[in-house]
Amino acid sequence: MEKRIFTIESNEPVARDTFRLVLRTDAPVAICSGQFVDIAVPGYYLRRPISVSDVLPDGVILYYKVVGEGTLVMSGMVPGDTLELLLPLGAGFHPEKCVSDALLVGGGLGAAPLFLLAKELLAAGKKVTAVLGFKRADEICLAEEYRALGVPVHIATLDGSAGTKGFVTDAIATAQPVFDRFYTCGPLLMMKAVCTTLDAPGEASMEERMGCGAGFCYGCTLQTQSGPRRVCADGPVFDKEEILW
Ligand SMILES: Cc1cc2nc3c(=O)[nH]c(=O)nc-3n(C[C@H](O)[C@H](O)[C@H](O)COP(=O)(O)OP(=O)(O)OC[C@H]3O[C@@H](n4cnc5c(N)ncnc54)[C@H](O)[C@@H]3O)c2cc1C
Ligand code: FES
Repeated sequence: MEKRIFTIESNEPVARDTFRLVLRTDAPVAICSGQFVDIAVPGYYLRRPISVSDVLPDGVILYYKVVGEGTLVMSGMVPGDTLELLLPLGAGFHPEKCVSDALLVGGGLGAAPLFLLAKELLAAGKKVTAVLGFKRADEICLAEEYRALGVPVHIATLDGSAGTKGFVTDAIATAQPVFDRFYTCGPLLMMKAVCTTLDAPGEASMEERMGCGAGFCYGCTLQTQSGPRRVCADGPVFDKEEILW
């Protein structure tokens, strides 16, 4: 784990309140799917944890939603501005545990870390299907990027403005994808529904408010089947059997 300065190459809106941030640095970046960076937003003491959606030889691509003060400041930053990141953080997904067919289930910006996972799975010769859920059509992001990889994408929207009307579980029931392992990231209730509905083994990326982001303060502790675990260092990805819903 290290602190590194990144320069903003682009920071553009791609969906409702959602930005795609491309950051470059001066040395190679090594980071795996499900891991995250902790961003020092100018003027704020606590860093903002954001998952890595893709890795460049000398940079990262992040997707973030403007939900509060820190992400609002980020949305106003322009190419050439710099950000200090702490990275790589956390224990990510396990693509090697998929035998042959993976199902990725993302809710909202949960689609972002699963994109890097899709690339890792495909590179390992696994088949990938994505089911992505959003509140409404204008929140959809990353669907075309998945399709460009050759991944079949099934969309669910709560208001029915695109894809299956309803939850990701409705889209899964309609699409009936073949898979031996699933990976999910998104709102807690969505992940609970996915983990308790699907019989196959799976992993979920959990979210907690964080202090240090690096395993020292125990501010992000989650109660699990095996006792208290730190989301920032023991997770954010946990096996579904570990999670106490
Ligand atoms: C491991 C991990 C990965 C994440 N990946 C992404 C991502 O790829 N894209 C994305 O848009 N968001 C992601 N989030 C959520 C993101 O960290 C928050 O939306 C963001 O910190 C909000 O900051 P703010 O200053 O705008 O909000 P404020 O509400 O002003 O923030 C106040 C404080 O609460 C913390 N906080 C607020 N909401 C959350 C939250 N949901 N989770 C954790 N801390 C929060 C902030 O970091 C800050 O310290 C992730 C969270 C975690 C834990
Ligand atoms: S945020 Fe400090 S231990 Fe996780």
